[in-house]
Parts: sequence; C-alpha cells; structure tokens
Amino acid sequence: MSSSLALDLEKLKQHTKVNLYIEGADKYLDAIGYTEHNVRHATKVSEIASYILKELNYPEKDVILASAAGYLHDIGNFLGRQNHDQLGAILSKDILDDFDISTEDAVRIMGAIGIHEAEEVGIHDPVSAAILIADKADVHRGRVRNPSMVSYDIHDRVNYAATESRLIVDIKEKTITLYLTIDTALSQVIEYFEIFLSRMIVCRKAASALGCEFQLFINKTRLA
Ligand SMILES: [Fe+2]
Ligand SMILES: [Fe+2]
Repeated sequence: MSSSLALDLEKLKQHTKVNLYIEGADKYLDAIGYTEHNVRHATKVSEIASYILKELNYPEKDVILASAAGYLHDIGNFLGRQNHDQLGAILSKDILDDFDISTEDAVRIMGAIGIHEAEEVGIHDPVSAAILIADKADVHRGRVRNPSMVSYDIHDRVNYAATESRLIVDIKEKTITLYLTIDTALSQVIEYFEIFLSRMIVCRKAASALGCEFQLFINKTRLA
C-alpha cells in the first residue's frame, strides 16, 4: 500500500478503470435508450452528495467518501442495467484498492453504491443517505439525449421539462429541499409524481437518516 494514492476526487477521476467503466456505462445506457449517465452525472452526484454532508457538518472523511461514492455510483451499468448498483459496488473494490484507504472506508463506499437504487432501504450510514438523495436530485433536460423524442417517453419528457433543479440544505431548519422548475407545456406536474413518488419516499427516508426533513418544491409550490 506504500505507493497508494490519497483518495481525492481528482485522482479518482484520472483512474483508467473509472474512466473506462463510466464511458462503457454511458454507451450501454445510450444503446438501450436511457438518459445520459456520463461524467457529468457522476460529477453532479458527487458534488451534491458531498455538499449535503458538508452543510450538515459531517466529518471531512465522510464528505470525501460521499464524493467518491457519488462519482462511482453508476459504473456498474457497463455490465447491464439490472443489478448495476451491486455490480458497481463490487467493481469499486478493485479501484479503491489502488488508493490509500482503509477497508472500513472502502466498505462504506461500496455500501452506498450497492443500495443507491433500493426502494426498500435501511440506511445506517450518512454517506449512503447522501448518495440516495444526490442521485435523485439530478433531474435536468440536459440528460435527455434526443429531445425530438420527448413526446414518446415519460422519463425523457419529465427530465426534459425540468429546466432547473437545485438542492438546498438548511442546517438551521434541518431541511433538505429540492427545488424544481418544470415547463408545464412539456410535462404536467402529475407526470413528475408518477415517476418520482417512490424516489421521493426514499429521499424522505434518507433525509431523516441525516436528521432532516425532505421537501420538494415544483414551480414554487411545496409538494412534499
Ligand atoms: Fe444508478
Ligand atoms: Fe445515477
């Protein structure tokens, strides 16, 4: 372990396997018609997850683990969509072995990746809670690959209709709030609910594991 790298996001982003796995995942998801899952999504989830823990005054180590787990969370998609969460967790072990990180910390990252899609989820680690919320907060029209097809697919339509998404943590109020601006000419708010209700339930559970209440605002109206 003497030649191992310190775990920081910039070094993780330069890791050959990380780059190849993310590239492969995005290509595979493109081929099956899914939204964008490239380095932009990885970076966004990493940033939001570390922001959540930083704002809530979690230790610096937790913030670093969340930024790493956020960046790696979707790598498993290059082996197929199904079970990409567990596959990604196992794949990340091999990557983390190249860094100067304790087994305990590696296990925390793997755990967060492994449950990031779970709906029935028990959350015992703030890193996992942050990843669950951050992944769901990345809703944006930029993720739609083919805007001319948005009328055919509800997922694309809802993502495309989201012209702005912002997650704000308020430590004083103990709230984690997702603010979305949706173009109702493209998608009705009810469609958003059809897709995101189960995700919002997970966000509520994850926020409560962080001692916070999860709130959702769409077009300035509170919906959850
Ligand atoms: Fe995922
Ligand atoms: Fe994701």
